[in-house]
Amino acid sequence: MIINFVDLKRQNKMYKKEFIEVIEQVFDNAVFIDGEPLEQFERNFAAFCNKKYAVGLNSGTDALFLTLLSHGIGRGDEVITAPNSYIATAMTVSNVGAEPVFVDVDSKSYNIDPTKIEAAITKRTKAIIPVHLYGQPADMDPIIAIAKKYNLIIIEDCCQAHGAKYKGKKVPAGKTGAFSFYPGKNVGAFGDGGAVVTNNWEIKEKLEYLRNDGSIKKYVHAMFGYKSRLDTLQAAILNVKLKHLDDFTQKRRQHANIYNKLLSSIPQITLPKEMEYAYHVYHIYMIQAQRRDDLGKFLKEKGVKTVIHYPTPIHLQKAYKSMGYKKGDFPISEQLAKSILSLPMFPELTYEEINYICSLIREFYDQ
Ligand SMILES: Cc1ncc(COP(=O)(O)O)c(C=O)c1O
Repeated sequence: MIINFVDLKRQNKMYKKEFIEVIEQVFDNAVFIDGEPLEQFERNFAAFCNKKYAVGLNSGTDALFLTLLSHGIGRGDEVITAPNSYIATAMTVSNVGAEPVFVDVDSKSYNIDPTKIEAAITKRTKAIIPVHLYGQPADMDPIIAIAKKYNLIIIEDCCQAHGAKYKGKKVPAGKTGAFSFYPGKNVGAFGDGGAVVTNNWEIKEKLEYLRNDGSIKKYVHAMFGYKSRLDTLQAAILNVKLKHLDDFTQKRRQHANIYNKLLSSIPQITLPKEMEYAYHVYHIYMIQAQRRDDLGKFLKEKGVKTVIHYPTPIHLQKAYKSMGYKKGDFPISEQLAKSILSLPMFPELTYEEINYICSLIREFYDQ
C-alpha cells in the first residue's frame, strides 16, 4: 500500500464537477484579475473567520509581509515570534527590515510559551506573531494581555489553522490574522494564495493598496506597493473548497482521534495534545517518536510518506547565521526538531490506511 503524506488527487476527483464548473465560469467571463469570484471569496472568508474584512493576496508569506508593512513595522523594530515555524514567519519580519526575536515554545502545545514573552520585550519591540502551529491555536489570552500592557501589535500566523478555535472563537483570536492557501493547506488553491482577515479598516485599505502597486484606482498610485493579488481563478477554486471546509475539518479531527487511539499504547511515542482552550484542526498530525529517523525510513520503505515540520528551527538556519544564535538557545524547539514526525493527514484518508500506518509503527517498535 502506498500512502502519500497529502493526496490532493482524491479531493480533486471527489469535487471535480464543482471545480470544472467554476473554472468554466472564469473561462467564459475571461476576467482573470479581481472580479466577482474574488469579491465573493473575500466576503465568504471574512464571514467564515467572523471578521469584518478579508483581503486576498498571493501567498501566506505576503499576507504576513504586507501586514507587517501596513502596521508600519520596519528598520529598528523587533518582532517576537516562535523559532519552530515555517521560515516565512520570521523571514517576512527580516524582509521588512525588522528583527525577529525568538521565544521558545511550550512543550505540550508546541506553540509560543506566553510565560517567556515578557523577558524578550525591549524598547524596540513592536509586535508579536503567535503561530497557530499544526492547526492548534496558541494560548492567546495571556498574549493579548501582554500586548495590551506593552502596547504591541499582534499579527496571528494562521497559515496552518483555517477554522481553528481559541476558547470557542475562530482564529485570529485578536484583530488580524494571515492565512496561506498553499495547495496542501486545509483550504488550498490550485497554486499559491493567501489572505489577511482583519477587523481593522485602515489595515484592510492599506493591504488593498500594497497588493496592487500602491493603487486602488486604475493608474492612480498613492504609495509604493507590490504585486500580490489573489487570482480570480484561485478565488473561484477557494470558494468551492471553503464550502466543504467544516466537513474537511471534522474528518481531520476524526482521523486524529483514530491515530490517538491506535498509537496510545506505544510507549516510544508522544501523541499531540489538544489543549483545553483549543479546537485543533489538525493541518498536521505530528507525533514525537524515539528513533525518529529510523521510524521515518521504515515507514518510507513500507510505502508511507512522512514529513518533519520542521527539521531545523529558524534560529539555526543558515539564513539567520548573522544574528548569532546558537544551539541550546531554544531547547524545547531544538529537542522537538529532533523527535517530531508528521504522519499522513488529509480529509480523504481512510480508516484502513490509518490502521495500516499504526500497525507499521507498532511493528517497528516491536522488532
Ligand atoms: C506557519 C506558516 N507560516 C507561513 C507560511 C507561508 O505561507 P505560503 O507558503 O503560502 O507563503 C506557511 C506555509 O507553509 C506556514 O505553514
